[in-house]
Amino acid sequence: MLSQYWLTVLATAGAFSALGADARQIRKQEIHARQVDAAKRFHSHSFPVKRAAVPKNITFSNPKASQFYVNGTTIPEVDFDIGPSWSGLLPISGNANETRKLFFWFFPPGPEGSLEDLIFWTNGGPGCSSLEGLLQENGPFQWSWGQAKPTVNEFSWTNLSSVLWVEQPVGTGFSQGTPNIRNEDDLAAQLVGFLQQFLEVFSELKNKKLYLSGESYAGTYVPYIANYIYQHPGTLALDLQGIWIADPSLSWDVVQEQIPAVDFVKRFEHVFAFNQTFMTQLDAIATRCNYTGYVAKHVTYPPKAGLLPLPGRSTFAERGCDVWDTIFDAALRINPAFNIYRIFDTYPILWDVLGFPGSFPQVQLAPLYFDRDDVKKAIHAPGSVTWNECSDINVFPRGDGSLPSALSVLPNVIEKNNKTVIIHGLADFILIAEGTRIVIQNMTWNGKQGFQTPIANDSFLVDGVGALGTSHTERGLTYLEVELSGHMVPQFSPLAAFQSMQYLMGFRFTP
Ligand SMILES: *[C@@H]1O[C@H](CO)[C@@H](O)[C@H](O)[C@H]1NC(C)=O
Ligand SMILES: *[C@@H]1O[C@H](CO)[C@@H](O)[C@H](O)[C@H]1NC(C)=O
Ligand SMILES: *[C@@H]1O[C@H](CO)[C@@H](O)[C@H](O)[C@H]1NC(C)=O
Ligand SMILES: *[C@@H]1O[C@H](CO)[C@@H](O)[C@H](O)[C@H]1NC(C)=O
Ligand SMILES: *[C@@H]1O[C@H](CO)[C@@H](O)[C@H](O)[C@H]1NC(C)=O
Ligand SMILES: *[C@@H]1O[C@H](CO)[C@@H](O)[C@H](O)[C@H]1NC(C)=O
Ligand SMILES: *[C@@H]1O[C@H](CO)[C@@H](O)[C@H](O)[C@H]1NC(C)=O
Ligand SMILES: *[C@@H]1O[C@H](CO)[C@@H](O)[C@H](O)[C@H]1NC(C)=O
Ligand SMILES: *[C@@H]1O[C@H](CO)[C@@H](O)[C@H](O)[C@H]1NC(C)=O
Repeated sequence: MLSQYWLTVLATAGAFSALGADARQIRKQEIHARQVDAAKRFHSHSFPVKRAAVPKNITFSNPKASQFYVNGTTIPEVDFDIGPSWSGLLPISGNANETRKLFFWFFPPGPEGSLEDLIFWTNGGPGCSSLEGLLQENGPFQWSWGQAKPTVNEFSWTNLSSVLWVEQPVGTGFSQGTPNIRNEDDLAAQLVGFLQQFLEVFSELKNKKLYLSGESYAGTYVPYIANYIYQHPGTLALDLQGIWIADPSLSWDVVQEQIPAVDFVKRFEHVFAFNQTFMTQLDAIATRCNYTGYVAKHVTYPPKAGLLPLPGRSTFAERGCDVWDTIFDAALRINPAFNIYRIFDTYPILWDVLGFPGSFPQVQLAPLYFDRDDVKKAIHAPGSVTWNECSDINVFPRGDGSLPSALSVLPNVIEKNNKTVIIHGLADFILIAEGTRIVIQNMTWNGKQGFQTPIANDSFLVDGVGALGTSHTERGLTYLEVELSGHMVPQFSPLAAFQSMQYLMGFRFTP
């Protein structure tokens, strides 16, 4: 059983005295000019694959489609036209008595996007809404933490192709019905059932090339959904090409959180700013728990001695070895705004229209954006549902009975896919990139275990930026690490996310 990756940690933000805040504005105009220049550079390099800007002509012949149509000029607080889109609820099967429905929002491609492809996106949790992804990561308009109002997202994945955001599994967001899934195969069967219903209404999308994407716990969902599709050929009228997973949950907590935790603190020692006594204590725990030196000894390229051992007897931290939580508690003492999803955040905690800016629930806006009546009305969402970014109920009522994906289905999926992209933000503490390297070196696909040659520094070159992390491809698997990015890569490093999707979809030759 896997643990949950979204934590609601109650901030114990102490009472801060208001210190004098009238800092001098040094050469303000000059600084501003440099920022404007940088922004221009950033945006001018975003679309290396240029196509003729032909308007897209997606119309749906099934009259049922029209009941899902969303007028792009009517989205509350959005003062520009987001273009045509379709959203609403559809059942997970064609049974007349089906009570379980998933909520979706579908966007056709923008002027530069492809009509031959379809991207599916899901957030993780389990139980977190994909509307977060749409609004704050890769959708055509964004209203992210701290933003005063929605803005156009230049890095919208609709610039690549059609995109389908789905709130799944049952129990998530606006979805309807009582959750009853026992494991990831059940989840995949329900999602594929939903997609069949979706393709009945939007049948013009049949036989498109499909790319499954998501982040966090979707590192479990997405490989299992792909595996299900490969194991049931002919069930889904879409042509699965590949998957893209960001900061994915792939294996045991002890591997992706505990073993690399102290190394992570050392890499960012000036961000954590722990005192020396505490650093010494961390070293002592890491040594006693067999975390120290684990990477140097076992994570070699190629792996030296077969499968990689666990540090102790358990797939969770041994007693006294939960160094990840020890670090989290200490980090919160020093920095009450410490954000496990992006460690650079400091006080104050940003305002968020979805009420979840990082590790903190916050109550500065009620109702949340997707819980507003006018928003629900505009997107055909059920008015009776109280929308939450992450579900209060367990979407796996008795837990997720599946093994982690890297220890089960992921190798098969990589072998069947044309391409597989795993991308990881280096400033993410909830799932740590070095742990993902351990997972990869312990995985056998296409006849060999792990990467055979080392991951080179500065090998991920982002257009208009230069080196922004590492990139490594072997036997159909591409692994990317992104400097400065937290857990939600499309939110924190939209250009890196966009470019890696272009690669996955064959719109560029290198990641
Ligand atoms: C747009 O699609 C409709 C329906 O499929 C079709 O009749 C029409 O010719 C298309 N227009 C263009 C410009 O491709
Ligand atoms: C969308 O809404 C605007 C403003 O209400 C209206 O002028 C326009 O005709 C609508 N467009 C469609 C395609 O319904
Ligand atoms: C719903 O319908 C399906 C087939 O149409 C049937 O197999 C199933 O037993 C029905 N479920 C309930 C709860 O009535
Ligand atoms: C990318 O998408 C945004 C949002 O839909 C749009 O404003 C922009 O024109 C698109 N850019 C390109 C190059 O298609
Ligand atoms: C490596 O893979 C094996 C086989 O799946 C598994 O038993 C073992 O726990 C894994 N080791 C780590 C460190 O995850
Ligand atoms: C560390 O590894 C040693 C040798 O394999 C083992 O005996 C010990 O139980 C491990 N310690 C912990 C805390 O897992
Ligand atoms: C050092 O950090 C630890 C962990 O947060 C804390 O318990 C201890 O009080 C700190 N010591 C000093 C001198 O700040
Ligand atoms: C698979 O990827 C290769 C290399 O990127 C590409 O040339 C080929 O067209 C892809 N195949 C399909 C079916 O998309
Ligand atoms: C790669 O970078 C890491 C730190 O980010 C450093 O520890 C390591 O020595 C570098 N590797 C090489 C081969 O330079």
